Amino acid sequence: MEFHVYENARAACEAAGVLIAAQITRKGDSVLGLATGSTPIPAYEMLTQWYDRGVIDFDRVRTFNLDEYVGIDHKNPLSYHAFMQEHLFSKVNLRPENVHLPSGNGAADAEAYDKAIHDAGGIDIQLLGIGRNGHIGFNEPADDFTYGTHVVTLTADTIEANARFFKSADEVPRQAVSMGIGNIMAAKCVVLVATGENKAKAVRDTIRGPITPRVPASVLQ
Ligand code: GLP
Repeated sequence: MEFHVYENARAACEAAGVLIAAQITRKGDSVLGLATGSTPIPAYEMLTQWYDRGVIDFDRVRTFNLDEYVGIDHKNPLSYHAFMQEHLFSKVNLRPENVHLPSGNGAADAEAYDKAIHDAGGIDIQLLGIGRNGHIGFNEPADDFTYGTHVVTLTADTIEANARFFKSADEVPRQAVSMGIGNIMAAKCVVLVATGENKAKAVRDTIRGPITPRVPASVLQ
């Protein structure tokens, strides 16, 4: 595991964008594991700019997103489907058939999602943010590490943290479908970006604490 510390949040995230761009440059049909949240937005902006300038080409790139809320329409601007459309998919030449997110229909398509990742040859580079409770994707603190894609019941802390996007905490979906820790660990390279004071404890516990499913990101050690 390598650590890099940057002057500000934008630089940290753009550095992750550099790694993704390098991956696409090396291998045109790369499989990207993508994340939502505020943290990765500067990386998507960088990738979009490099695409506009002809530096990178998404024509053969395949993508798999970490997670989606259960029971939220994909057209709802608060869905992760809509987030990805807005910040990346509508801006580059990714083919719709090469873009994948969990449907958010509950357990029904979890196995199919894992199979699709496997059939694509696995994830070359996985981008991650981190929850302030140490979650990655929507893998919440738990008694065990999860393996594959699964339905998660969100913790009160995550509902509160994500309420800023909704009208109130009551409107935050209570469940999500998330890739498991096993899916994330199977990626050939994992890049986690953490910014802001409210992530400091999660970062410390991830790097210096014991490896425990109570701090899901600690598995990266
Ligand atoms: C959500 C997502 C995570 C993300 C986290 C932090 O819970 N499921 O993938 O890492 O939010 O988001 P932010 O980057 O906005 O702090």
